[in-house]
Amino acid sequence: MTGGGRTRGHTFYTIKFNGADVRSLSIGTIRGESLSSLKMHKDATEFLHRSVLLQETLDVIDAVSRHNVVDATLGLGGHTKAILEFSPGCSVLGIDQDDAAIMIASKRLERFGPRFTAAKGNFSDVARLVEAAGIGQPDAIIADLGVSSLQFDDASRGFSFRFDAPLDMRMDSSTGGPTAAELLIETDEADIANIIYEYGEERFSRRIARRIRERNESGDPVTTTRQLADLVERAVRRSPKDKIHPATRTFQALRIAVNRELEVLERFIVDAAELLTAKGILAIITFHSLEDRIVKHAFQKLSGKCTCPPRIPQCVCGAKKAFEILTRKPIVPGDAELKENARSRSAKLRAIKKLEPVV
Ligand SMILES: C[S@@+](CC[C@H](N)C(=O)[O-])C[C@H]1O[C@@H](n2cnc3c(N)ncnc32)[C@H](O)[C@@H]1O
Repeated sequence: MTGGGRTRGHTFYTIKFNGADVRSLSIGTIRGESLSSLKMHKDATEFLHRSVLLQETLDVIDAVSRHNVVDATLGLGGHTKAILEFSPGCSVLGIDQDDAAIMIASKRLERFGPRFTAAKGNFSDVARLVEAAGIGQPDAIIADLGVSSLQFDDASRGFSFRFDAPLDMRMDSSTGGPTAAELLIETDEADIANIIYEYGEERFSRRIARRIRERNESGDPVTTTRQLADLVERAVRRSPKDKIHPATRTFQALRIAVNRELEVLERFIVDAAELLTAKGILAIITFHSLEDRIVKHAFQKLSGKCTCPPRIPQCVCGAKKAFEILTRKPIVPGDAELKENARSRSAKLRAIKKLEPVV
C-alpha cells in the first residue's frame, strides 16, 4: 500500500493501493473465505454488506450540493461510494475504527483517487481526525451506527452466536481494551446485570448475571460465543412466541459495553455539530432504541429545545438554537428495502442542518 502515514497516533491510508497485498495483513476470514481469496473477485465487497437507507441518506444530506463530506462509519464504504458517484464535485473522508473495514473500503474506493481518504480511528475523535487529515470544514457528516456484516459474519470476531469463537466483540482490537470475555470476568455480578438490562433490555438480566458469576467462581469462566449463548438459553425461559434467539439481547448489550458505543455517540454528536459549516448537515442512522434516543435528544438540544426536567424553574441544560431538525419523524426503510434486507428493519435516520450564524 502506498500513501500511508501516521499523524498524532492515527494511521491514515490513502487509496493508492497499487494492488495492496491484503494477504499480508492478517485480518481474518469472512464467511469462511480468506480476504486474499476475496481479492480475486472484482468487487467482492458488494455482497458483504448492504448499505441501509442509502437513497434516503443521499437525499437528506442533499448530496449533490456537498463538497466535503465525512463518513464517520466507513464500514465497507457503501454510503461513501454512493456519495462519490452521485456528487462528482464532492470528496469524502471515511473514518472507521476497524482495520479490516479501512482496508477493504480503501480498495473498493480506489478508483475515486484523491476524492477519497480514509482515517483509522474512533469517531469520538472526529475533530482531531478531520484536522489531522487536513480536509477543511465538512459540509456534511454521516454515521451509520453499529457493526457491519463484515464484522458480524466474521466467525473469528465473536460478535455472533451463529459461530463458535472466542468471545471478543471489539470493533478495534488494536486498543488493547477488554474483550467481552474479559469484561465478564472483571465486572461484578450487579454491574453485569445492569449492562444486560440497560443495553439489552433483557428482563432476565439478573439471572444471566448470576450464572456468569457462578461460572467465574467455578474456575471455568465463559470464554466463547457458544458457551455464552448456551448459558443464556438455560437461564432464560424461552417462549415459543419468541422470534429471536434468547441470547440476542445479551450479545447486543455486551457489544455496546465493550465498544462503549453510547458514550462515544454522545461525544461524537457534539463535536460533529461543532465542526460543520453553516448549512452543514449531520445525518445518523441508528439500529436500536437506546441509540435513537440519544440522537433524538441531542438533536433536540442542538435545535434549541430545552431538555430540563419539567419542575426546574430555569433552563440549565444549555439548549441553544443552532440547528434545524430536518426529520421531525425518523426516516425508516420502505417495503422494498425491508423485503430485501432484514437488517434494515430497525433502522432510523435522523438529520439536522446547521443554521447560519446571526450577525
Ligand atoms: C454499519 S457499518 C457501516 C456500513 C457503511 N455505511 C456501508 O455502507 O458500508 C458500521 C461501521 O462503523 C464502524 N464503527 C462503529 N462505531 C464506530 C466508532 N465509534 N468509531 C469509528 N468507527 C465505528 C464499525 O467498525 C463498522 O465498520
